[in-house]
Amino acid sequence: MQIEFNSYIQESDKTDLIQKEVDNFLASERFDFVKTLSDKKYQNQCHTIFERFKDRSHFVQIGIGGSSLGPEMLISALSKNTDRTFHFINNIDPDKTAQQINQINFKDALFYVVSKSGGTAETLASFAIMVNELKSHGVKESELANYFVFASDPSTSQLRELGDDLGITTLDIPTNVGGRFSVLTPVGLLPALFAEIDIEELCRSAFSFGSELSNLDSFKKAVSMILNHHENGYDQTVFMPYSSRLRDLSFWFIQLWAESLGKKDKDGKRVGLTPIPSYGATDQHSQMQLFMEGPLNKVMLLINIKESEHDLKLENQFDHPKLQKLSGFTLKNLMDSEFFGTKKALEEQNVPHIVFNINKLNEENLAKLVIFFEFLTAVTGFCLKIDPFNQPGVEAGKIYSFEWLHNL
Ligand code: PA5
Repeated sequence: MQIEFNSYIQESDKTDLIQKEVDNFLASERFDFVKTLSDKKYQNQCHTIFERFKDRSHFVQIGIGGSSLGPEMLISALSKNTDRTFHFINNIDPDKTAQQINQINFKDALFYVVSKSGGTAETLASFAIMVNELKSHGVKESELANYFVFASDPSTSQLRELGDDLGITTLDIPTNVGGRFSVLTPVGLLPALFAEIDIEELCRSAFSFGSELSNLDSFKKAVSMILNHHENGYDQTVFMPYSSRLRDLSFWFIQLWAESLGKKDKDGKRVGLTPIPSYGATDQHSQMQLFMEGPLNKVMLLINIKESEHDLKLENQFDHPKLQKLSGFTLKNLMDSEFFGTKKALEEQNVPHIVFNINKLNEENLAKLVIFFEFLTAVTGFCLKIDPFNQPGVEAGKIYSFEWLHNL
């Protein structure tokens, strides 16, 4: 992965601060989202389940936040399986859930219920609904273990206890790896296997890149550029891969960045970098005008993929000046021209941006992107004097929701 930096402000030297926070982070248990990648236990658990349920043509993941966004992203970026249908029940919208129920072949489905805490209301509600549906298809409670697999914390989880009672296997989400950092644990690895994604290569690449990141100048430069711009009022981060297959990577990044970096610091001061999801070339016709000429308060993270898997000719004989101009080129040529054209225009407008260039979209490179952004999020948070791994701001809302429900 080759990284290019385009900064237009005077940046102060943050080397010492970044090095100190990187060293603290490497020594802490929070670094487990990289360390556990080399522990084959998690991949082996997934292979065992895959062997048992590989005949199922519907894979239904039930989870929310980090228990769904990462898996969704992996499947849309890398899935090689066209025969199996994936369903992500990641919300509690009754209309949408009813629609999804109609699309699931219940007798031929595996339901993967993922909750690190084991107590998330939305996930448990969807679990209860799926059990009711299975029962209406004639499945008895004693047979649920043939349809469900759970994933949760290895020790403190009521979902795991329920699984044990019902004879349902529960995969382990490593204790020190929180939801939004968990895509390369069984949370994402099990659906990835069902989508014929090479999970060994994903973990190998992520572990090897994650182990060397702290020594990479380009990594520290990225942290420094984000921090310096934040100090200068650039408190928004646009995430824009030039790829439809990476559109869900934007939504995965949004949660990672927002939930990790938007909170009160130790002195109660509100801190935050607001992420903006986007993807090219489509959003050139939507948000790009704002990015180009709106307030200079955004740092853009662009992803450019050098080789596409497919390409299509634009050859045509129509009597239309623009169509004639396109003839002789390919769709990939057009995508590249839009990316490089936009980049040149951003330079002219002094919009700061970092470009991540990858050769192609595969397990090796997607794993590098994932681990880079997870690492970047963690170190940026520590440098901003916040805990990037907690989310106290969403707890109050959860408590009030239950209060409201019980007053109905
Ligand atoms: O990143 C996080 O920790 C959260 O977004 C969680 O993923 C989300 O709240 C779901 O939690 P759980 O996996 O415990 O059900």
